[in-house]
Amino acid sequence: MGDPIRRILEEQRGRFVSGQEIAGRLGTTRAAVWKRVRTLRRNGYAIEGARGTGYRLLDAPDRIDERELFDLLPPGTSWSSLVSFDVTDSTNSRAMEMAGGGARHGTVVAADAQTGGRGRFGRRWESPPGKNLYVSLILRPPIEPPEAPRLTLVAAIALAAAVEEAAGLAVMLKWPNDLFIGGRKAAGILAEMAADPDVLQHVVVGVGLNVNAGEDDFPEELRARATSLRIETGRTFRRIALLAGFLARFEADCRRYVAEGFGALRPEWTARSLLDGKRVRLALRGREEEGTAEGIDASGALLFRPDGAPSAVPVHGGEILAFER
Ligand code: BTN
Repeated sequence: MGDPIRRILEEQRGRFVSGQEIAGRLGTTRAAVWKRVRTLRRNGYAIEGARGTGYRLLDAPDRIDERELFDLLPPGTSWSSLVSFDVTDSTNSRAMEMAGGGARHGTVVAADAQTGGRGRFGRRWESPPGKNLYVSLILRPPIEPPEAPRLTLVAAIALAAAVEEAAGLAVMLKWPNDLFIGGRKAAGILAEMAADPDVLQHVVVGVGLNVNAGEDDFPEELRARATSLRIETGRTFRRIALLAGFLARFEADCRRYVAEGFGALRPEWTARSLLDGKRVRLALRGREEEGTAEGIDASGALLFRPDGAPSAVPVHGGEILAFER
């Protein structure tokens, strides 16, 4: 469900639609249309009204609104609801709490700003207000606990495809959870789970995508390594449209992963892989090793050939500390 008047104005974005036409399409009165337009304006929509001509939508607020999000998602979507915060410490923390309290599969938790945004290995995730996407997804997939980390790779593939489509940029994937554009990091994914020894309770997949941040929004020490869609294109993007594009793809990719295994999605990763054939430094179980990244296997493990070793070994955990540019 969504707001039907907003939907009509969105469809015709930039063009006038008469109050009579809107009223006719919705089986309501022109007075009711006018009232609803007034409410939309109060909610931040810039709607021009011209006597005798009608209404046209000039600008929509860049806010993550549940009704609009579900309007943008395909019919029959399995995303179930949106919980949106103006500010919270970390959407992953909120989502883990909510999932522990029984929140449904498909609950989407978003925030306009985070005060304690977290990355892998306890790193801080820069989360200024009003600029970027900070979202965590509560999933209860029919997979076993050791499988859960694959969801990071599946999410990275879906996010890369959504960004490519929306921004026309080439996105590269750095195993296991980073999106790079033009050699700098634009997004990261943090998956967390709760499981009994054999049964997965829930997974939270957290996504941070730098959308409209400018260089100044990053601390100085990050500027050479971090980027955003705006920095790369010179354009701004509506976060809700990016979120909807990502959610639609992630849902489809998750279905495929559950039905066919990660191997079915591996070509999508390989086509965008940043590390293949490159020398890397890997941290694994407290040790650092240098070698070459030789792709990923059908389980999503990194194929790493330590210097001097005859062949690559699959690596499931660990972190790439440095890689050849
Ligand atoms: C990384 O690059 O190490 C992962 C970064 C993940 C950041 C996102 S922002 C939304 C969600 N909430 C968090 O606290 N972290 C993730």
